[in-house]
Amino acid sequence: MLKRTHQYRRSSQFSSQFSSGATSVCDPGAGRTVAQDSQVELALSRGRTSRGRTAVIVGAQWGDEGKGKIVDVLTQTFSVVARYAGGHNAGHTVIINGKKFILQLVPGGILRPECISVIGNGVVLDPLAFLKEVASLRAGGVKVDSNLFVSNRAQVILPYHRMMELGSENAPGRVKIGTTSRGIGPTYEDKMGRRGLRVADLLDTALLRTHIENACREKNMIAHALFNSEPLDADKMFREYADAAEQIRPFVRDTALLLNRALAEGKSIVFEGAQGTMLDIDHGTYPFVTSSNSTSGGAATGTGVPPTSIDTVIGITKAYCTRVGSGPFPSELVDARGEDLRKRGNEFGAVTGRPRRTGWLDLPELRYAGMINGISWLVVTKLDVLDHLTEIPVCVGYKVDGKETDEAPAQACGYEKIECLYRNLPGWACPTQAIRTVEALPKAAREYLAFIEKETGARVGLISTGPDREQTILVPDFVSALGLKNC
Ligand code: GDP
Ligand code: IMO
Ligand code: MG
Repeated sequence: MLKRTHQYRRSSQFSSQFSSGATSVCDPGAGRTVAQDSQVELALSRGRTSRGRTAVIVGAQWGDEGKGKIVDVLTQTFSVVARYAGGHNAGHTVIINGKKFILQLVPGGILRPECISVIGNGVVLDPLAFLKEVASLRAGGVKVDSNLFVSNRAQVILPYHRMMELGSENAPGRVKIGTTSRGIGPTYEDKMGRRGLRVADLLDTALLRTHIENACREKNMIAHALFNSEPLDADKMFREYADAAEQIRPFVRDTALLLNRALAEGKSIVFEGAQGTMLDIDHGTYPFVTSSNSTSGGAATGTGVPPTSIDTVIGITKAYCTRVGSGPFPSELVDARGEDLRKRGNEFGAVTGRPRRTGWLDLPELRYAGMINGISWLVVTKLDVLDHLTEIPVCVGYKVDGKETDEAPAQACGYEKIECLYRNLPGWACPTQAIRTVEALPKAAREYLAFIEKETGARVGLISTGPDREQTILVPDFVSALGLKNC
């Protein structure tokens, strides 16, 4: 059993104060000499400077846990938010005083003008989707100039990636993953195959033309042979993406340098995960996963901030479970109770509108997420969705071939053998949406949360009882450990 293997660790750096001034982060080179820069970096690498605090926000289930809302809450004091993986397959909802924002590529920090938002090198960027999102934020009065940066090393999604994905998803004999059809998988394939186009290359017009011509020729041949797809027009694609490149140019930076300098200056960083642990390419329910490392390890590789600079990992879990797309889901409900959770939780994809599959909280899965990510704090969202229940079943263990186990099967078919062991916890059967302190929660709700803590070994630091920024209960120890303001 994996209980209590990832205890909460208090870091002295956490309680240190820091300034949230953004000027020098916006322009990494401003007013410094090369020698001064290398001094900062040398001192940083030797641990001589007091760097800013950092926290990774990671989905502890199958995505859509409410990461967007929680990143928004943390940015009340964190200075920088950096997305480290995925692309516009993500849909992160933030509701501020009733106004709804759905962010796909742009990190949640964008909704606080004093915060710096970074799209890291681990992200796959669809230039057109990025520009559309930026335009919609601008139209909504959100500041996006000089506070939003894109890594010059992020991979670029091009139309042939979508063509390959659609062909493959619909081809007879292939496993249908139920992807978001955004071209995410084929773009990561090209990255790993060392034939991808990066943002720096997108800005190099001659290289862009050659790349698109060659790639289109190759992809058109493959897609025609395998899926009988219509060929894409390379000339048209080049013109469209060369134009997009010029609009993206002002956002592009060496974001690894930007982030490490920000840390050296004492600025704090939230690493914003997309998707969730069970969708991770290595640790999820393969092959029913996304194509990147959505777990906390991805925060280092996906931003260029070293693992030694990561202070804490905050896992986000719903008070129950959901999954969208195909693949294993041990505690899934396929009856009226599942439909009830879907209705009460409004469980429909933020971007695709697809109905999400629903089920009870799965503690073996959560313990696994705790181990893989090193989760020290848990955030429990959507507690209010269970408000009407008098009894709440929770999966406390798995049984395979008559034996209890916490081991997550390596093969998707291994999940078919799992029998979930349930324990019924008392429900509280009263509304929680207006509650703002842990003490004011009904006793049964506090016991539900305490049970999660006991079973996972992680502390619950924040409870969300509604979609709005204000519908948040902060645990005082979490507030002091993370350097947050008490609301
Ligand atoms: P993310 O991808 O992890 O950011 O999550 P999504 O935004 O895709 O899905 C979470 C959904 O739950 C969104 O519609 C949020 O507005 C909503 N939400 C977040 N926290 C709560 C909560 O505590 N209660 C309720 N009822 N809804 C919530
Ligand atoms: P956020 O960040 C939930 C799922 C898809 C599909 C699988 C692979 O909002 O939590 P992909 O298009 O990535 O190749 O699809 O992953 N998926 C998500 N499910 N939330 C997400 O993101 C997801 N991003 C991808 O439904 O099953
Ligand atoms: Mg989502």
